Amino acid sequence: MAKILVIGSANVDFVSYVDKLPKEGETILGDSFSINAGGKGANQAVACAKAGANITFLAKVGQDENGKLLESVLLDNNVKAKLLIDQKNPTGVASIIVDKNTAENRIIVVKGANDNLTIKDIEDNIDLVKEADIIMVQLEIPLDVVNYAVLLGYLAHKTVILNPAPAQELSRETLKHVTYLTPNKTELELLAKMTINSENDLLLALEKIANYGVKNIIVTLGDRGSVLYRHKRMEYIPSYKVNAVDTTGAGDCFNGVFAAGLSMRYSVVDAIKFATKASSICVTRAGAIKAMPSKKEIVK
Ligand code: RIB
Repeated sequence: MAKILVIGSANVDFVSYVDKLPKEGETILGDSFSINAGGKGANQAVACAKAGANITFLAKVGQDENGKLLESVLLDNNVKAKLLIDQKNPTGVASIIVDKNTAENRIIVVKGANDNLTIKDIEDNIDLVKEADIIMVQLEIPLDVVNYAVLLGYLAHKTVILNPAPAQELSRETLKHVTYLTPNKTELELLAKMTINSENDLLLALEKIANYGVKNIIVTLGDRGSVLYRHKRMEYIPSYKVNAVDTTGAGDCFNGVFAAGLSMRYSVVDAIKFATKASSICVTRAGAIKAMPSKKEIVK
């Protein structure tokens, strides 16, 4: 089995479930509240591990209780985590509001220690990079670290998965070193600098990004499934009809399980189907890490 290295963020999520999202200037009463381990990097790492992959996670947390919570949750989920400690900044946090009726969310991330992960940290842990066959990164850590990790992976002929979330502009130089780019529609719009209102717009946006040199693009479209773009053509992979209660972490679940599928030598399409099943299960449960399914559940 191929080895995966996830380099990314670790946050603690403060989640309020509400009947209706508040309007500007409005105070509303929430229904329930929970504190969970999260962060796109940690979520993807757990999704990988639970799907049966051999995965290592490199991240930075603060010297605080939230950092300890993340350490124990990652351990409980069999993630080999190298959590570096930032002496100055606290562990990253996310304030999340989930609309109980639509299962949609609003998220604010304060990056804290995640923003202090450095190129030197990667260099100090270069063995983890060398040992890995697949490198996966997202955008809740500094962009220079993302660019560096992508370049290292490319130069060493590894599979590089870049989940461009939260949405941020990326250089063509970085994009051309990516094996799989996995934006959602909003992220693709920002990268392609255009709005997408039709299938034709989607194709134009994909062609634009592919022209920068990205080999494969997988656009996640929520309950409409996903689109794989490669060799100048689009292929739709549908999702499953489920009763969604919380979409937090569904994209992370998709990315983590997709990487796991690739590591188990699934074809690209089969890895996407595996990931689609997993994220369809994920949205039927509250929370992010808490909602990641096991390989047994996905297969079943
Ligand atoms: O993708 C969901 C994640 O985004 C949450 O866990 C939160 O921490 C933010 O990183």
